[in-house]
Amino acid sequence: MKAIIISGSRNPAGQTAQAAQAVEAGLTRQSVECETIYLPVHQIERCRQCDDNGWGLCRREGACIIEDDFAGIVDQLRAADVAVFANPVYYGDLSESLRAFTDRLRRICTQPAGRVGIEKKPAIGVCVAGGGGGGAPECCASLTKVLRTCGFDIVDMIPVRRQNLAAKLPQLDMTGQWLADKPTSD
Ligand SMILES: Cc1cc2nc3c(=O)[nH]c(=O)nc-3n(C[C@H](O)[C@H](O)[C@H](O)COP(=O)(O)O)c2cc1C
Repeated sequence: MKAIIISGSRNPAGQTAQAAQAVEAGLTRQSVECETIYLPVHQIERCRQCDDNGWGLCRREGACIIEDDFAGIVDQLRAADVAVFANPVYYGDLSESLRAFTDRLRRICTQPAGRVGIEKKPAIGVCVAGGGGGGAPECCASLTKVLRTCGFDIVDMIPVRRQNLAAKLPQLDMTGQWLADKPTSD
């Protein structure tokens, strides 16, 4: 079994990374092979809103016209059995890198061809408010909305704040273990 962890943070030693690594520890204990993608270090343009009407190749073919790192990461996502989205809370919402990625992902998922390997894939989200600590629940709502539009089977969505990160690490670890054991919402 394979898991992909897609992080909106660029810091492999930051709070979002600590939360993601706790999920990874639970997955790894169950012999799940994990791969982490730090989106900010990749080249991912924002959607160009192609064509006069704003619908582009993505709607017709389920693929994006932009030649950057997006397609390769989507291939890795498709190849994984479960997905973990880890996001640092910015302004009570998604980080810019995760927003750019999910904005384009939901576009290609408009088309059945684009949803291949994504539809019904078990996914969890973790949103870490590492500053004042506010905005994680609102960020979870944003992440839930976009992942649902893409077609994921969202099996958990976990808000974390700086003040409860240490307390939540064991829960995140157990969630990873659970995700390996019982990944569907059935
Ligand atoms: C542009 C920006 C906006 C932020 N907005 C919030 C916020 O709304 N609430 C909060 O608790 N922390 C906020 N933070 C702090 C981040 O959530 C915190 O830096 C992050 O969780 C930890 O980053 P890391 O996991 O990449 O180390 C913000 C940080 C930045 C850079």
